[in-house]
Amino acid sequence: MRSYIRGLSYYVPEETLTNQFFEEYLDTSDEWITQRTGIKERRRASKDVLTSDLALYASQKAIEKAGIDKKEIELIICATATPDHLFPSTACILGNKLGINGTPAFDLAAGCTGFIYGLSVADSFIRAGAYRTVLVVGAEELFKIMDMEDRTTCVLFGDGAGAAVVCATEDEDRGILGFKLHADGAYGDLLILPARGVAVELNERVLEEKLHFARMKGNEVFKMAVREMGNVAMEVLEELGLSPDDIDWVVPHQANIRIIQALAKRINVPMEKVVVNLQKYGNTSAASIPIALGEALEEGRIKEGDLLLLVAFGAGFTWGAMVLKW
Ligand code: UT7
Repeated sequence: MRSYIRGLSYYVPEETLTNQFFEEYLDTSDEWITQRTGIKERRRASKDVLTSDLALYASQKAIEKAGIDKKEIELIICATATPDHLFPSTACILGNKLGINGTPAFDLAAGCTGFIYGLSVADSFIRAGAYRTVLVVGAEELFKIMDMEDRTTCVLFGDGAGAAVVCATEDEDRGILGFKLHADGAYGDLLILPARGVAVELNERVLEEKLHFARMKGNEVFKMAVREMGNVAMEVLEELGLSPDDIDWVVPHQANIRIIQALAKRINVPMEKVVVNLQKYGNTSAASIPIALGEALEEGRIKEGDLLLLVAFGAGFTWGAMVLKW
């Protein structure tokens, strides 16, 4: 038994924030953002639209693409760093909004690696014979945890969601071939949202010190992201007896064009084989890989039978890679 992605889609909110938007009120420039990150614009969800709503819109499209009845879904996994609430989980809220109440559902907290972690869990449940149809979602509203006065974070991120209907198949020649996951909590402080859990007592200091917003030591994250994304990509390829030359498309987490270029160089894959769309959406964390994959599918770039390498790095730190045959 294998698992494969039967339907995948994405949703991004309409409001577009260009680099000029930030230029107008912050000490930053289109030139700096473009050169250092590759990002030109990103999407922002309005106040009354929640992460679960973005997850819903992406899921509805993915279910339609998969051509299944939503009632066939046996498990919902929502990877997010920006849940509607600490509890109930966004996956439970999504199940209710989809109208498939009673279906088991849970959130998965693995930062920007969340979608690869989610696919790995779905694949494992399916291979074990527990379920045949799993909905895996990556959904984020990062603007709601951004300090819009902090130029070192607010220009980097964006809102969006992607969803995949992962199904069982007896076909040995398609689907998820393998994955490798890692995490190291020793680096937790380098990319952290300090005060939305129980660690920090809610008082005026939280607002004064802006502990309710995301913080990142970008430079240190950058170095480790390049190294570990390269390592984990090679690790999964070696385990499967594959070489980078066998890969048709690399679909990396969309954080920074310089990270992606360094990764491509490290694993010796030409940039022509790398899916990049961060110029349009910025870093959408757990949503970035399914959005990139969804767009490449829409554009007809990724075709049936193509061998894909997904690779990501994020808060935790977490990192991972997956190889699948489309
Ligand atoms: O998705 C999860 C993982 N996250 C990532 O992978 C992000 C990883 N990190 C990065 O992408 C990059 O480190 C950044 C884009 C965040 C920063 O780029 P960098 O080349 O590492 O720059 P830096 O942090 O070393 O900062 C260089 C300079 C600093 O000024 P000084 O100290 O040299 O005077 C910053 O204050 O750039 C300054 N700077 C800015 N200037 C204009 C930082 N942000 C901005 C800004 N506009 N928005």
